Amino acid sequence: MTDVTGVPVVPADVLHTLFHSEQGGHEQVVLCQDRATGLKAVIAIHSTALGPALGGTRFYPYATEAEAIADALNLSRGMSYKNAMAGLDHGGGKAVIIGDPEKIKTDELLLAYGRMVASLGGRYVTACDVGTYVADMDVVARENRWTTGRSPENGGAGDSSVLTAFGVFQGMRASAQTLWGDPTLRGRKVGVAGVGKVGHYLVEHLLEDGADVVITDVREESVRRITDKHPQVTVVADTDALIRVEGLDVYAPCALGGALNDETVPVLTAKIVCGAANNQLAHPGVEKDLSDRGILYAPDYVVNAGGVIQVADELHGFDFDRCKAKATKIFDTTLAIFARANADGIPPAAAADRIAEQRMAEARRG
Ligand SMILES: NC(=O)c1ccc[n+]([C@@H]2O[C@H](COP(=O)([O-])OP(=O)(O)OC[C@H]3O[C@@H](n4cnc5c(N)ncnc54)[C@H](O)[C@@H]3O)[C@@H](O)[C@H]2O)c1
Repeated sequence: MTDVTGVPVVPADVLHTLFHSEQGGHEQVVLCQDRATGLKAVIAIHSTALGPALGGTRFYPYATEAEAIADALNLSRGMSYKNAMAGLDHGGGKAVIIGDPEKIKTDELLLAYGRMVASLGGRYVTACDVGTYVADMDVVARENRWTTGRSPENGGAGDSSVLTAFGVFQGMRASAQTLWGDPTLRGRKVGVAGVGKVGHYLVEHLLEDGADVVITDVREESVRRITDKHPQVTVVADTDALIRVEGLDVYAPCALGGALNDETVPVLTAKIVCGAANNQLAHPGVEKDLSDRGILYAPDYVVNAGGVIQVADELHGFDFDRCKAKATKIFDTTLAIFARANADGIPPAAAADRIAEQRMAEARRG
């Protein structure tokens, strides 16, 4: 949408979302610009009820500025829930930098962004997300004390996918416990869609536990990295084939969002869905479709919290064992969500939201 001079404007529905809808209620949204470096960014702070807002910086070529703002609002809200469920003393925030990182990302731009983060005086703590990497956070951190996800050489914890995969595995064990009365995946057929940073570590946990693993990935190298080491792993052509595998017990979406939608849910053979991908439910209502089919869904933001647990820990001087202990708790949290869903007669995704909202409300009162 543009104004009479052709300049993009924020459509009224974005502001309506912010001030009036249930998706809004953000505390603060900051528009940042540095013309010298081409920086255009949005920092959205959804809530600081539990502590400083924490969430990554997405660097993405949004088609419009309004789309970028809407994404920042949506993602920061999601972080409030994720951080609350992970038991962190952090609220939810997220930043987006508008533009193609391949074309415009420079150290100067990242430093300008770092000064914007600094200007919030610690109300927002940043980290990596799509389009930003550990090396970028090292640069952003030169301008402020509120940047995590840095490299070990710069006092950071490095790659968060190890603990993310470990947390997803804990969520999967809790799902197995709930459905089959035993947490082990031994002898279960588990399909992993996307064996990138997180997915390949998840495969290692599953094989160690004695699962029968089926994988797929659009990148040949990702598949080969696993089959070279573990020839017993079955490979299928694509996700469409994976979700239809006969006798599949668990489906683990570990690639992109929207994996659970009107096309996939009706044909899923698995009885459990538990994976690392963010925003797996394509639209509201899919969580009910899963429940109606008797499929147990472990909410994505609960089981993939290992990464944010790691970046939060980095603020206090990273300790891998302390983090692993926190990520282990994802097992109990997932069990509690299934119990609440059962008690309230609602899908697990709705139960998770209720528990997170309760924690935030108690903190506000507290
Ligand atoms: N890395 C983390 O710590 C972390 C934390 C929380 C959530 N997540 C989420 O987990 C997911 C995976 O993250 P990652 O860090 O492993 O990313 P990644 O890019 O390393 O891995 C994703 C893999 O999925 C594959 N892929 C892409 N499209 C596919 C398709 N259509 N079918 C099959 N495979 C496909 C890619 O080739 C790649 O190997 C993402 O949704 C991410 O947002 C990651």
